[in-house]
Formats: sequence, C-alpha cells, structure tokens
Amino acid sequence: MSWDKTLLKQAGEIIELYPQKRSALGPLLHLAQSKDGYISDDSISVISELLGITEVQVKSVSTFYSMYKQEPTGKYLISVCKSISCEINNSTEVIDKVQEFTGLNNNETDEDGLFSFEAVECIGACGGAPAMQVNYETVEGINAENVFSLCSWLKESAPEVIVADEMQENFGGIKSFDWAIQDNTGATSTAPGFQTLKTSKVKK
Ligand code: FES
Repeated sequence: MSWDKTLLKQAGEIIELYPQKRSALGPLLHLAQSKDGYISDDSISVISELLGITEVQVKSVSTFYSMYKQEPTGKYLISVCKSISCEINNSTEVIDKVQEFTGLNNNETDEDGLFSFEAVECIGACGGAPAMQVNYETVEGINAENVFSLCSWLKESAPEVIVADEMQENFGGIKSFDWAIQDNTGATSTAPGFQTLKTSKVKK
C-alpha cells in the first residue's frame, strides 16, 4: 500500500462516516484526486484494498464520472459549459477564446502542465449563463473579452488558490444567485474544493 500515513488516516476517517465501507468510494476517489490531480492505478489499488472491493469496481466508478480524471491535468483545469442555456448566451465565443489563448483542443493539457481545457455539459449555473469553472470554482456571466483576461491572470499571477468569488468579482458578469457557501476557501488543486469531511458535522 503506497499511500502515506496521513492520507491513510484521512481515508480511515472518511470510511468511518459510512455504515458500509464501500459507500466511501466516491469520497476516497476525491481524496485520491486531491493527492495526484487524477486517479492513478496505484490509488485504484489502494482504494480497492481499503474498501474490500475489486479494482474493476473502483475503476468503473472512477471512469463513469467525468470529474474523476484518468490522466494528470494542468495546474488549472478550465471547464466551459457548452449546454443549451450557455450556448444561447454565446458560450461558443468563450470556448473559442479559451482555445485561442491556451492553444488547446477539448480535453487536452499543455506541455507546460499549466492549463487543461474541457467543454462540459451543464454545471448548474444556467441562470448566470454563460458559465465556466477553473478547478471547479464557478464564474458566471463570463464573456469572450473577460475570459481572455482571466486566462492571462492565471498565467501571470499563478494563484495557488482559486476562489470563485474572486473570479466572479474580477472577471464575471451577472450572477444567478448567492451560493450561500459560508466558508468558501477555494480550490488548491483540480479537485473540487468543498469540505467533504465536514459535511456530516453540519448542524441542522
Ligand atoms: S447550461 Fe450552462 S450552466 Fe447550465
């Protein structure tokens, strides 16, 4: 088993949250992606062992959901929505601009490992279309001009933490609604930045 002690401890804490070990599969894949930026064969093997299920079962889930990446991504994963609400609000121009700036086709990563680009289906921000994400942090009401500035900012400033509110303020347009996330600490990698471990402790 090649995960270090810290990661195994985190994995153990996650598994304890569930009555059945196998139910922790999604969060453990998220943990693996936070570690490497993708789901490595090594992580497949470790998770299989921790949960007592086969590697094929782990792999089948990790390949079903597109947010689990099968290969390393760049430092910044740019995901632009191409679904209907965004498309009728000119997401095609946003996509063209991202591709012009990065030189990437869909699902490609540049040689420097800085950018990955993907055109994705609805990301749940239709009211603020066109919408896009950087490392799964959402910015709404983006346009071709602002997305170019956003990409330039990423390249020149190389922020270690991507925070949706910051991008929204500097590069976004009209926002659909307040997401009401109280402790939006942003994303430090190409894994979504929500606090998986704390969700069970939220008081109702
Ligand atoms: S259609 Fe683009 S966010 Fe829903």
